[in-house]
Amino acid sequence: SHPALKAVVISIYILAQVCPTAAFVENPSRAQVVRITATSDADLNFVRHVKHKFNLDAWRDVHQTNGSGDFFVPSHHIQVIRNLLKLHGIPFTILVDDPMRFISEHEKREVKLRLSRAVKRDNFRYKYLSYNQIHDFLESVQKKTSQANVYIDVIGKSFEGRDTPYVKITGKSHPRPKGTIFIDGGIHSREWISPAMAIEVIHRLALNTEQDPQVDQLLDMFDFIVVPLVNPDGYAYTFRPGENGGSTRMWRKSRSSNYSSHYSCYGVDLNRNFGYEWNDNPSYGGSSDPCSPSFSGPFSFSEPESQNLRRLLLSNKDDIKGYLSFHSYGQYMLYPWGYRQDVEIEDEHDLFHVAKVFRDVMLKNNYDYHVGGSAKSLYPAAGGSSDYVKGVIGVKYSYTLELPPVEGSTPYGFIIPEREVETIVTDTWKGIKALLFRLHYHT
Ligand code: ARG
Ligand code: ZN
Repeated sequence: SHPALKAVVISIYILAQVCPTAAFVENPSRAQVVRITATSDADLNFVRHVKHKFNLDAWRDVHQTNGSGDFFVPSHHIQVIRNLLKLHGIPFTILVDDPMRFISEHEKREVKLRLSRAVKRDNFRYKYLSYNQIHDFLESVQKKTSQANVYIDVIGKSFEGRDTPYVKITGKSHPRPKGTIFIDGGIHSREWISPAMAIEVIHRLALNTEQDPQVDQLLDMFDFIVVPLVNPDGYAYTFRPGENGGSTRMWRKSRSSNYSSHYSCYGVDLNRNFGYEWNDNPSYGGSSDPCSPSFSGPFSFSEPESQNLRRLLLSNKDDIKGYLSFHSYGQYMLYPWGYRQDVEIEDEHDLFHVAKVFRDVMLKNNYDYHVGGSAKSLYPAAGGSSDYVKGVIGVKYSYTLELPPVEGSTPYGFIIPEREVETIVTDTWKGIKALLFRLHYHT
């Protein structure tokens, strides 16, 4: 672009750095979600640099290949980031003006709907359960089942001292030594559909109120361990949406407070904290900055929440045949490696074909899933749980499942209205069943 223009923009940038709120912010109380498009490798690197430098929260991160990403930009950074993008000729649009207002309005609508809803057949089903309600649900499951078939315990406490429950479901018959399927949800707290999906799995397997014969078959093939909520502190925090102008609803990390000066920044990205090829360099998708939304922690397994999961994984190491970690959103079925893009995985063929069974079933139900390697399909992210489960626990079939909605379909992918939960989890369960049958055939 024009050199003079460049100079002007640079000086605006410098000025804005010196006095960020003085002259350039039109409405300092209003954040924006900005969709930034990176079409070349150079642009992609630049966008990642901006993201890192300003610790921007990606509501949808920009991919390795190209395309766009959606970033939450706090009001005091809006002008400087706009100027930077303009300077480098990188196209952007305002996707959501004042996202916090959107979230609080959404929450108000949800509360109203909940109050107006008639008494449901099952108080726990197809809902976003609070941390306490998850405990109540598990208690009700234990009351209806025998401890020999459904065993419920806790794997440890979170940073703030919350218990982290898990469920082991073995079924009634024990035809032969069985492998174990390990499932978790809620590593990232704002991805509410993830624990909801894990809870649906518990409901289906432990209670089988549908009397689905396929569930009996599955329980003849496998034992199941389900950890519905790996990050209870973060999750509880997202249930206080009235606070901080609604911004708690979009919290992603845990809530530890040890690592920044004056304890001003909270939390570790637990899906960057697992100990296989752990790396907090931003080019590996994490960060060494406690104020970053993808802070990797000071070292691998620094957090009680990731330690809790590790302990349960290690004590079942020899039995685990498959691992599924629920996240959202984007509709991706991802397998290792996630830590970097340029490493080949030796058994990709098998991982792909098992995942494709899921994809095919989901496609019949009108969900288009992408199947592929984590770093290649999405972006590099070292310290993810599914890399650890494959690399250290030694589980061949280790997956991260990015649940609906599909990318780009909505600007608010984490915020699915509660009335849509039933359809999503019921449909997804069909795909998971098919995947598990295929997995058994392979193992
Ligand atoms: N949404 C997940 C995260 O950011 C995806 C991780 C999958 N791994 C990857 N390398 N892309 O933690
Ligand atoms: Zn996630």
